[in-house]
Amino acid sequence: MVAVAILAAGRGTRMKSRLPKVLHQLGGRSLLERVLGCAAGVQPSRVLVIVGYGSELVKESLADVPGVEFVEQREQLGTGHAVQQIIPHLQGFSGDLLVLNGDVPLLRPETLDSLLQSHRNHQNAATILTAQLPDAKGYGRVFCDGQNLVTQIIEDRDCTPAQRQNRRVNAGIYCFQWSALAEVLPKLQSNNDQQEYYLTDVVSYFDPVMAVDVQDYQEILGINDRKQLAGAYDILQTRVKDSWMRAGVTIVDPDSVTIDDAVQLEPDVVIEPQTHLRGQTVIRAGSRIGPGSLIENSEIGEAATVLFSVVTDSIVNTGSRIGPYAHLRGHVQVGERCRIGNFVELKNSTLGDRTNVAHLSYLGDATLGEQVNIGAGTITANYDGVKKHRTEIGDRTKTGSNSVLVAPITIGADVTIAAGSTITEDVPEDSLVIARARQVVKQGWKIKSKQAE
Ligand code: UD1
Ligand code: CA
Repeated sequence: MVAVAILAAGRGTRMKSRLPKVLHQLGGRSLLERVLGCAAGVQPSRVLVIVGYGSELVKESLADVPGVEFVEQREQLGTGHAVQQIIPHLQGFSGDLLVLNGDVPLLRPETLDSLLQSHRNHQNAATILTAQLPDAKGYGRVFCDGQNLVTQIIEDRDCTPAQRQNRRVNAGIYCFQWSALAEVLPKLQSNNDQQEYYLTDVVSYFDPVMAVDVQDYQEILGINDRKQLAGAYDILQTRVKDSWMRAGVTIVDPDSVTIDDAVQLEPDVVIEPQTHLRGQTVIRAGSRIGPGSLIENSEIGEAATVLFSVVTDSIVNTGSRIGPYAHLRGHVQVGERCRIGNFVELKNSTLGDRTNVAHLSYLGDATLGEQVNIGAGTITANYDGVKKHRTEIGDRTKTGSNSVLVAPITIGADVTIAAGSTITEDVPEDSLVIARARQVVKQGWKIKSKQAE
């Protein structure tokens, strides 16, 4: 049995923020959500999150995550003190405890799993994840004998210049035999530079404590300031983009593209420069996205194109062409082989196959059939100042340029709407509708003042 404790009570002074450090966002998820996501990989029987600074906000942020227990650390007296707070909560628990710093968001679940396996295979009292860092500044240094058995961990600020030369650092990720740890925790002292109770001091009470080096040191980088936050984003992006390129996606200019880690891409997708894919987005095979597009929580079907456009919370089906300069939002569904062109905004609307909205239109709360042609400048007047109303348009109907469709309204199939019409009443199928003032031409007419001359 394994329980997980995540240390998330600190303010994170170096972030210079009112927001608790662990709630800062990294690629669409907070640092804490990322650490929790990693912990879930070992299927723990208990998950305890130690909260303190901004505890209400931290709890609120995890309101939708089932099975998390919160433990209050009222004063932040150090990482050792934080873990002391869980003693009453794990009374009688007899398994292993993984302790994770809440500010180490790049850790892979496989790494955590292999730490747990080493801990169990060697029957250690404690096993500590370590790394050889090119720049170890700020990290606790781990001192071992020849067998990777830890003799001491000394914080950067407590090191002598000679000790500081050691580049083997403490990742802030540990595995303990809980019953042994519970006995040792009350013995911690705070005689160090920060006058804090350091969790790392428990090593002097245990035998054996083993250090396990992580293969990819980037996984254990901790976030203490905004620069490290941006650095972590960069690492995450490189990971995500490299893996999509290996899976058959072309990313023309990776440095100018961002892709959230929940996004799914299929082979032969081409991502052009300056494109950002966010949230639960899926792009199907052979589609070309960008340049200059933002797609969020949307699905783009096969062989579609999205050029200089914004698509959020929407579905675009096979072979449709979006843009340049289109905006789809609020649950739009575009059928197959449609064309949504320049300066078109679609909101909460459904379009059948081969329907075109090619220029300068706003369609909101509308349902369009197949092969509809929306003329340039057609607008649904869907809002009466109080409520939104729907517009229905049948198959093969054509709206003339500058039509205004005042909702609620139903326009049948095979209708032609004359240019410049304002339609306020339903139109039956197979008809032509003209709703505009008739053109009047007065021949030989002159302005009165001119007549007087
Ligand atoms: C800690 C380790 C250091 C390690 C580094 C790895 C200690 C003493 N030092 O240092 O050896 O190399 O992490 O990133 O453990 N926290 C609490 N309550 C507290 C204090 C901290 O919950 O009273 C939480 C923080 O919110 C944070 C985590 O513990 O998520 C680590 O705290 P931080 O102050 O960042 O420790 P470091 O100085 O980075
Ligand atoms: Ca830290």
